[in-house]
Amino acid sequence: MPDLVLSEELIMNNNQYESFIKTTIMMNAKIQDAINAQINAELWSAYLYLSMSADFAAKGYPGFANWMLVQFKEEQDHAMKFLNYVIQRDGVVELKPIEKVQKSWKSALDAYKDTLAHENIVTGLINNLFKIATEENDFATQSFLKWYIDEQVEEEENAQNLIDALKLIGDNGYGLYMLDKELAARVYVPLATTTSTAAAV
Ligand code: FEO
Repeated sequence: MPDLVLSEELIMNNNQYESFIKTTIMMNAKIQDAINAQINAELWSAYLYLSMSADFAAKGYPGFANWMLVQFKEEQDHAMKFLNYVIQRDGVVELKPIEKVQKSWKSALDAYKDTLAHENIVTGLINNLFKIATEENDFATQSFLKWYIDEQVEEEENAQNLIDALKLIGDNGYGLYMLDKELAARVYVPLATTTSTAAAV
């Protein structure tokens, strides 16, 4: 009889343990919704930079077009990193429609001013995600978001540097030509975005 009592206690403890493990792995609905919205924002960013790339290419700036095309690919990676994280945490990915983007810019300076303004918005979104993860006591998501927080510093710096260069160049055609040549050298480096499941195979 004492053995039976012990077994029941053990079963109850196992159930509690399983429930504890489940809540540890799964992200809550508020964080899942916020990350799904961020996947959409990253894909919209990709769309924006693809549009800028096409506009530069059409206007005879292959270097600026290349820089924006690399940016487009990096934004897709940012979206995929979030997407894989939702899967890792046993969540549900929800892909929402991507809004239309602007199709032409008056000048390279205008395009990079818009790039910086957009990256400022993305920084705000990432910071807000971190705030939600803190309020929800989701330590894994806080740790995961640190990569994006650092990345945003770089994204804003890159756009600001090009704005500064373009302001210096002004209307100087040769300066614009040389900067275009420099930006043609930017190379896309893929980000490792595999899930732990895929990586283990
Ligand atoms: Fe995904 Fe440019 O931030």
